[in-house]
Amino acid sequence: MRIVLKKGLPSDLSTLVVYATKTGKSGKPNFGKLPKELLDLVKNAETEGQFSGGKKETVFYRCANVLGFSHVLFVGVGEPGREAIRVAASVTHSSLKGRKIKSAAVYGDGLVKLLKSAGAATQALAEGFLLSAYDFFVHKSTGKDDKKDHKNQQLNEITIATSAAPSAADVKALKRAEILAECQNFARWLGDQPGNYMTPTILADETVKAAKGTGLKVTVWDRARIKKEKMGGLIAVSQGSHEEPRFIIMEYNGGGKGKKPVVFVGKGLTFDTGGISLKPGQSMEEMKYDMCGGAAVVATMIAIAKLKLKVNVIGLVPSTDNMPGPTAFKPGDIYYARNGKSVEVYNTDAEGRLILGEALVYASEQKPAVIFDAATLTGAILIALGTTHTGVFTRDKKLFGKVNEAAQQTGELVWHMPITDFHRDDMKGTHADLCNISGGRNAGSSTAAAFLEEFVEPGIPWAHFDIAGTAWNIASRFPYHPKKGASGIMVRTFVELAENF
Ligand code: BES
Ligand code: ZN
Ligand code: ZN
Repeated sequence: MRIVLKKGLPSDLSTLVVYATKTGKSGKPNFGKLPKELLDLVKNAETEGQFSGGKKETVFYRCANVLGFSHVLFVGVGEPGREAIRVAASVTHSSLKGRKIKSAAVYGDGLVKLLKSAGAATQALAEGFLLSAYDFFVHKSTGKDDKKDHKNQQLNEITIATSAAPSAADVKALKRAEILAECQNFARWLGDQPGNYMTPTILADETVKAAKGTGLKVTVWDRARIKKEKMGGLIAVSQGSHEEPRFIIMEYNGGGKGKKPVVFVGKGLTFDTGGISLKPGQSMEEMKYDMCGGAAVVATMIAIAKLKLKVNVIGLVPSTDNMPGPTAFKPGDIYYARNGKSVEVYNTDAEGRLILGEALVYASEQKPAVIFDAATLTGAILIALGTTHTGVFTRDKKLFGKVNEAAQQTGELVWHMPITDFHRDDMKGTHADLCNISGGRNAGSSTAAAFLEEFVEPGIPWAHFDIAGTAWNIASRFPYHPKKGASGIMVRTFVELAENF
């Protein structure tokens, strides 16, 4: 799908989209400065209470023949804000798509100035459209054999028309939105691919392929190298699978020489059966999404490189299957991590923390300014926060403040969760330094975070994002996401964090 900025209303399109806001308690829509013909058209719907500019409201006029357009769609934004505009774009997208309209113009005059920060409204609108346009169809026969047929059902182009020539800020904002949405959609695509099409080897190969020409340096370690590098946790988890593990290192140097890097770490568990501590069959297919943290980090790195941000960033993705094969690691096994700590495995399904631990040790060795990790780590976070908020664990209040600020720009909600010495004490081993599960069932997301903390060098600012509740199927809260499928969550927030850290 393409978004175009244009001076003047286009004469070759048959549909015009008009946005209205509704602020405070006023029951009235605010159209900004709108031509009389359009105001007259919607007047009746307004007086009859069918359109007040509220969130998700729409009225469609077919064959209205106004200002050279056959059809006019009015969409309510509600209280103006970045997220409200993204939602309004997604409502527009489904309304146009449902009517099989393939291209439309947006009346842009009031809209592009809706938010204080220049370009912000254009960026949000473009993000909303481009994220809504994502569809995972590669394994459907219509998608596979005849891509044209699939495309025929799509909304292809939106022209944002303004009476003045588009401002430099709007042009820049559109470009930024395109890169961010393209990369978030790439993260979704990686996540949506099933385990047999997204092995650690394929994930690494896709990363190398996507990084070509962006200025990103990608290094991939195979099983032998991972063993040599003493990443005992990654080796242990990978033992039960025929598929080789991978450790993916992405480096981007856009900042000054000697400037400490921001490091992102993502869980790249390409399929989590639970291993010998096998998961129940119910919904196990969802465990193809257990690499969504890794996908977010890959996509974040590509976005940062494409945006040419002036920062130094490293992305790390430990990747493996978790399978119960004959050589699988077993409950009770003890392994040694890269930082020398011994770990007792009481439950092979608590595997994410084992592979992330190794990446966090490597991350600490890079003398970073900060480490952020994203992982579909615990089912418990879904119980605690549902599908709205990503749980963020850090003892550093100021760091959480920065995370929250970034998240408010992107609409990816976060919630500060506890990580304390109590949780750390719960993770002590019986015959080893650490155990990979706590004695009880309580606070499972916090004890998992406390386990990870054992692998971060003290003094390095660190925040862990548990995305198990937000990595897929979140459209009921955020309509620009796929109804079923990966969300690509945290890509935009991570880019924001890298830029403003
Ligand atoms: N990948 C899962 C976490 C998960 C579960 C994500 C459900 C999304 C939905 C993780 O590897 C896991 O299995 N964690 C266990 C930990 C437990 C054994 C301490 C869990 O959450 O049940
Ligand atoms: Zn697991
Ligand atoms: Zn897992």
